[in-house]
Amino acid sequence: MEENDSTQVTLNQLQVHVKDLQKWQVSEEFAKQIENFTALPALYRHALNELENKIDILKTEWQARDGYSPIEHIKSRIKDPKSILHKMERKGHEFTLDNMEQHIHDIAGMRIVCAFVKDIYRLVDHLCAREDMRVLEIKDYIAHPKSNGYQSLHLIVAMPLVLLEGTRWVKAEIQLRTLAMDFWASMEHILYYKFDKQLPSHVAEELKEAARAADELDQKMLRLRREILELAERPAE
Ligand code: GTP
Ligand code: MG
Repeated sequence: MEENDSTQVTLNQLQVHVKDLQKWQVSEEFAKQIENFTALPALYRHALNELENKIDILKTEWQARDGYSPIEHIKSRIKDPKSILHKMERKGHEFTLDNMEQHIHDIAGMRIVCAFVKDIYRLVDHLCAREDMRVLEIKDYIAHPKSNGYQSLHLIVAMPLVLLEGTRWVKAEIQLRTLAMDFWASMEHILYYKFDKQLPSHVAEELKEAARAADELDQKMLRLRREILELAERPAE
């Protein structure tokens, strides 16, 4: 999911990109398909709305039950058509709507930021057990950080959308992170953005060091929380 606030793909945007299609050397047939493509962003938007609603309910319930919600905040976006085409090209898929639906899993994307690492796993357990979605894939970059230091847990889920034509399963990517992981990933994106060369090794090493610092911060906060909870439970002297 790109660091992008846009939550709407408008018809207007889409038409601009149809004009761009020549540059992408897509087949005429696909260009036609793209022209008929306007229903698709709406479909993903509906799926994202449903997902936002589910998470919102959870947040309220957790808050009411425990006086604290593991979910700090959420952000969602629909991938813009140009990025979809870029990704299909990068992954070597022929430009067809079928391929797009099958292989591009983050057209609808949500980022859930939690306070503590434990909260992420609680939330994942909950999402895996739900009957109103299927978790298709889990990538745990928290247990196994990427070589640059990136940490997050990614889920690919599918959700049923009940339409006039019947039920359609729509995929979405959910990225779960702590506040510290989100800080690092957002900063890395800002620093790295538009830099398409290999990073000098000392810069890459310092970024990795910063990721370790974020990890230590997470662990320290968890320790402090445990200590505060224990103090709260101790009878007054
Ligand atoms: P893409 O990386 O999107 O082509 O797909 P993938 O199948 O490799 O998925 P992966 O789960 O590795 O990454 C998906 C998304 O996670 C990316 O689009 C980013 O939003 C985020 N992400 C992955 N790696 C990094 C990273 O090193 N830094 C930052 N800032 N974000 C990352
Ligand atoms: Mg990737």
